[in-house]
Amino acid sequence: MLAFDKILSGNQDISCMTCHPPSFGSTDRRTLSIGQGATGVGPSRVHPSGTFIPRNSPPLFNLHLQRSFFWDGRVEELENGSLSTPAGAQVTAGMEATFEFGALSAVGLFPVMSRAEMRAETGNELAARADGDFTGVWADLMTRLGAIAEYRTMFEAAYPGTTFDNMTFAHASNAIGGFILSEFAFVDTGWDLFLLGDDSQLSNTQLEGALSFMNQRCLRCHEADNLIDDGFHNVATPQLGPGRGNGPGGLDDFGREGVTGDPDDRRRFKTPQLRNVELSAPYGHAGQFADLFTIVEHYDDIDARLLEYDATQVETALQSTVLDNFADILLNRDTILAPIEFDEGEAENITAFLLSMTDAAARDLTAVIPATVPSGLEVDR
Ligand code: HEC
Ligand code: HEC
Repeated sequence: MLAFDKILSGNQDISCMTCHPPSFGSTDRRTLSIGQGATGVGPSRVHPSGTFIPRNSPPLFNLHLQRSFFWDGRVEELENGSLSTPAGAQVTAGMEATFEFGALSAVGLFPVMSRAEMRAETGNELAARADGDFTGVWADLMTRLGAIAEYRTMFEAAYPGTTFDNMTFAHASNAIGGFILSEFAFVDTGWDLFLLGDDSQLSNTQLEGALSFMNQRCLRCHEADNLIDDGFHNVATPQLGPGRGNGPGGLDDFGREGVTGDPDDRRRFKTPQLRNVELSAPYGHAGQFADLFTIVEHYDDIDARLLEYDATQVETALQSTVLDNFADILLNRDTILAPIEFDEGEAENITAFLLSMTDAAARDLTAVIPATVPSGLEVDR
């Protein structure tokens, strides 16, 4: 209910699931997401002033396999098991004790803080809070939720022994994390069944593609079982859109460097997991690649591909925003990628192989959309 309820946004016009709509594979199918102040869902969403947020909305699949969240991993579980987030000590020990699902439990604490995504610049009590006042915004949200009797009952049922008035927004965020884990875990793919011994799951083309995936180093980052390495890499993807306040005019996005402060991390982004990748186009941290084949082909002689990047594959409004900084991007392109060159047909085969990573049950997620939410606000579907 919380994930679908617009009550969590400043002006009550957007919910978490507006940008991760189950009707579109838990991503919005946009190059970049469109935040509060707009109308519509997924491909038909429009903002009156044409505003986008800086990054592409990732799907919510199989997040139980990840230790870090967002393209730069700014919410993550460290090696020692402790939590690192942009809110520092405002995520109190008491809040951490509430979390049952690792760092994922904390993710919901942050979209509600972002003015562009949910909070808005003006027009509501959350917007009036200072930008660093996480605690204040979270308290305001609990005040809103506590005014709705149905939420009080639901919270107290979900956390037996704690009264609503003794809860924090960590209880809400944890509940959303649990919902995502339980409803978006889809690992029964053709590839998984093949690994368990069912040879009939992959066609010959897909088998060829699997071989290329291994020989062409894809597996170095999209590793064996989970197809992720918990790592961050610069795979020479172009930059577009409003940016994250980095570089000239603030239009660039330095990725992982924004979290660690280490210039070696410049333009490194989290390796995405690939199960159900078929369902979450467009691809890349800024939705730079319109379809699966195009991002696979990008790895073939990668530096030249970046220099020839075709901006017509992104949304019309964003085509002119592709930064002319290719030389800078290539300065610390991951060295693992340098020698990759495909033979004729390899990009097609790898693409076919990636389609074996779709769990058929993930194709229709609409059953998770509630008919109504306790606030009575409209549910995007
Ligand atoms: C305006 C659109 C928008 C809204 C609203 C929104 N998200 Fe997202 N979500 C995104 C984008 C874009 C990213 C990637 C952001 C980044 O990397 O900086 C993201 C990332 C995530 C991730 C990380 C996935 C991963 O693989 O790392 C999770 C989980 C998530 N959102 C859950 C939520 C929840 C829960 C809410 C509501 C509290 C929410 N989102 C609201 C657009 C949105
Ligand atoms: C050096 C590590 C690394 C290697 C090697 C690598 N990838 Fe990636 N891959 C990434 C990262 C990081 C991203 C996200 C890049 C970005 O958004 O800027 C990505 C993105 C992708 C995506 C888009 C997924 C999405 O959800 O947006 C696909 C598909 C993909 N890679 C396939 C491959 C294939 C096929 C190969 C081998 C030819 C390969 N990768 C090799 C790290 C790697």
